[in-house]
Amino acid sequence: MKIERFTRLGFILAASGSAVGLGNIWKFPYIAGEYGGGAFVIMYLLTVLVIGFSIMIAEMFIGYEGRSDGVTCFENLDHAKPSIWRFGGFMGLSGLFVMIFYSVVIGWIFNYIVIALTSLPANVTEAERVFNTMLNTDIVTQLFYHTIAFIIITYVLLKGIKGGIEKLNYVLMPLLMLIIGGMFLYATTLDSFGAAVDFMFKADFSKINSEAFVVAVGHAFFTLSLGMGAILTYSASLPKGSNLIKSSLYVVAIDTAIALAAGLMLFTFLFQYGAEPAKGPGLVFISLPAIFYEMGIIGNFFAVIFFVALAFAGLTSAVSLTEPMVQYFISRWNFSRLKAALSMGLFFYLVGIVALLSNIDTYESSLTFFGNNFFDLVDFVTAAIMLPLGGLIMSIFVGFVVEKQRVEKVLKEPLGKFFELWYFSIRYVAPTALSIVALNLFGII
Ligand code: TRP
Repeated sequence: MKIERFTRLGFILAASGSAVGLGNIWKFPYIAGEYGGGAFVIMYLLTVLVIGFSIMIAEMFIGYEGRSDGVTCFENLDHAKPSIWRFGGFMGLSGLFVMIFYSVVIGWIFNYIVIALTSLPANVTEAERVFNTMLNTDIVTQLFYHTIAFIIITYVLLKGIKGGIEKLNYVLMPLLMLIIGGMFLYATTLDSFGAAVDFMFKADFSKINSEAFVVAVGHAFFTLSLGMGAILTYSASLPKGSNLIKSSLYVVAIDTAIALAAGLMLFTFLFQYGAEPAKGPGLVFISLPAIFYEMGIIGNFFAVIFFVALAFAGLTSAVSLTEPMVQYFISRWNFSRLKAALSMGLFFYLVGIVALLSNIDTYESSLTFFGNNFFDLVDFVTAAIMLPLGGLIMSIFVGFVVEKQRVEKVLKEPLGKFFELWYFSIRYVAPTALSIVALNLFGII
């Protein structure tokens, strides 16, 4: 089967569109706040640089050399036939699992665009009430916007790589960068910018514990879209002769820049208007709207463009979370694109409704497992278990299963003298860090 090709810029935009998502603007600031700021941020940056970047290169390599859907890529690169490594390709499934809650959150964002346009909550108490009412009681609103998210995402996917995914990213990514960049610049003019810089970069390492480490590694994977075959699937559509190192660098740099800009901007606003760096997912949905209200007219304007940017970030990531499975069904099961996109869309849409209901007061107790409701459970299992596991599989596969010459053929020249360093990292450093995460998770260390 012939796979459509991105243009070079199209690939960079699509891959960074995948990476820059709710993880950057919604999740990163609140976990940074939760784990105490500076020390956590530094640990996260180190993980991104040492582990994330190496695995990004490895994952791009698998897609670029394998030239197919996730499962077939693993088969193509393994000389043993039949390849047991094809199960590695099934990591593409976990992207679809992420979509179960991701699409619901995109729905909340749509709702907040409307709230920003009509009436912002006047203070934090009011903002809390608005958010909690939506989350815990309002099935109709959530369902309505979740449905819109499902329709947009599925539509883009059924238009394919060039006509859908590339086009979407060509339009949304530059706008997103413009909005976040503009708001960040405004934040630098406020007095509290310095306090935000302190909060984000002043390291108090006593706050760091093994939980923070696990969360930082998990988030590094999540934010870079690694370990789920999203980058792999896009890389199968890279134009021939692409420089994988340059591409990874761009993606890592853009992703990190946007996370830091979003974090600094949010904390500047929080400090400027005397709000506590709110804990938990309510940060952008509770503290921020109340602050925008206080900022007056410019706040109203910011509120609208901020939630629009957040929606853009979410949508470009959502298509990349679903595309691996779409691609898999097209190439292995001979599905038409229409049928593949529609069935994957319906999967996350319908299971997403269960996730949505698990936040509703009346249903929560019956949809709670292992002490977490279904929504939180999906978030935890994907970010903390499936992604690092996917990364582990990919690094061992590239480090030990694929012949070294084959890896060298593609990566030796662009990496130059860093090749051996990277190879070492993929063989030993990344798997070790990921194993520590796994062992810690299961309470072994
Ligand atoms: N990186 C996105 C974010 O930060 C989420 C995401 C998109 C993702 N595609 C992925 C995470 C693939 C893991 C794997 O929100």
